[in-house]
Amino acid sequence: MEENKDLIVILQQIQQKALEALQKINSSEDLEHWKAVFLGRSSEVMQVFKEIPAMEVGMRPVLGQKANIVKTELEKHFEAAREHIQQAALTNSITQQKLDVTLPGRLPERGRLHIATQTLQEIYRILAEMGFQVYRSREVESDEYNFELLNIPAHHPARDLWDTFYTKKDGIILRTHTSPGQIHAMHEYAPDPVRIILPGMVYRYEQMDASHEIQFNQIEMLAVGKNITFGDLRGTLEEFVKRMFGSGVETRLRPSYFPFTEPSAEMDMKCIACSGKGCTVCSGTGWLEILGCGMVHPTVLMNGGYDPEKFSGFAAGLGTERISMLRYGVDDIRNFWANDIRFLKQF
Ligand code: PHE
Repeated sequence: MEENKDLIVILQQIQQKALEALQKINSSEDLEHWKAVFLGRSSEVMQVFKEIPAMEVGMRPVLGQKANIVKTELEKHFEAAREHIQQAALTNSITQQKLDVTLPGRLPERGRLHIATQTLQEIYRILAEMGFQVYRSREVESDEYNFELLNIPAHHPARDLWDTFYTKKDGIILRTHTSPGQIHAMHEYAPDPVRIILPGMVYRYEQMDASHEIQFNQIEMLAVGKNITFGDLRGTLEEFVKRMFGSGVETRLRPSYFPFTEPSAEMDMKCIACSGKGCTVCSGTGWLEILGCGMVHPTVLMNGGYDPEKFSGFAAGLGTERISMLRYGVDDIRNFWANDIRFLKQF
């Protein structure tokens, strides 16, 4: 009997001790440890359960009931403490770590077409309306197509007009202009008439400055057929410039020299930065050169497979980065391929 009473006292002491210990706990690791000590297999409450069968029969239910109450009580407090600790950790992480989950996310950088591509596509659109088809040709060319078939023989002084990137392979170069595409297209279509544009990158081994780059895009125009005149060339170019820049734009043709056209000319556009008054963009002249052009040289027609007695044609080559510079007021051509995202993002 005494022993039974003792056990009830012991149970009460166990409970008190356990709850006191629980009071001091504020981390989940300590809490788990507490659970092992006070509710685990070898905990004191569990020991009491083991001792009950050895007790006096009449006392067993009383003891069992009391032990159960203590155990349930401890479990209840354990759950409450766990809840409390988790809540505290959450509050702590919200206030201490200052993570504002309501802030909008960071948007990924969105890609877009390069300014040069945008301008090229605009030119394709305009020239398509005027009846020109895109014809692609290679960037790595032979000396034969880039020069010889365009009426520029080896050692001819006109070669100095293009500072060339040569490769280690004899006779293989990076094209210095899109004109070699004229020969490829003529070989494909002769003796049918052609009206095409040849777009793409060209390469020149040049000193770089605000208006010179070692690589840039050109668009070549080529029309070959019967009775094509210089008037057709002029009318086509003026119409193109009007559609590209608006009807108020003034242009002029200046006589020039290219080995593959005769006669040859260059077209200037009145500087849109200063309306012709003279500024840094046009080097004080009021005019900006935008393209070279002329009537296809009879030798080139022949090299392409056309009879120059029956056929004539015109050709023009424009630097499209220059066109972008005029349209958007870009003052340094080196920006185009410098790969600076801050520049490219503006367009
Ligand atoms: N190919 C010449 C150049 O790059 C431009 C041009 C093309 C001139 C067609 C006349 C005719 O300088």
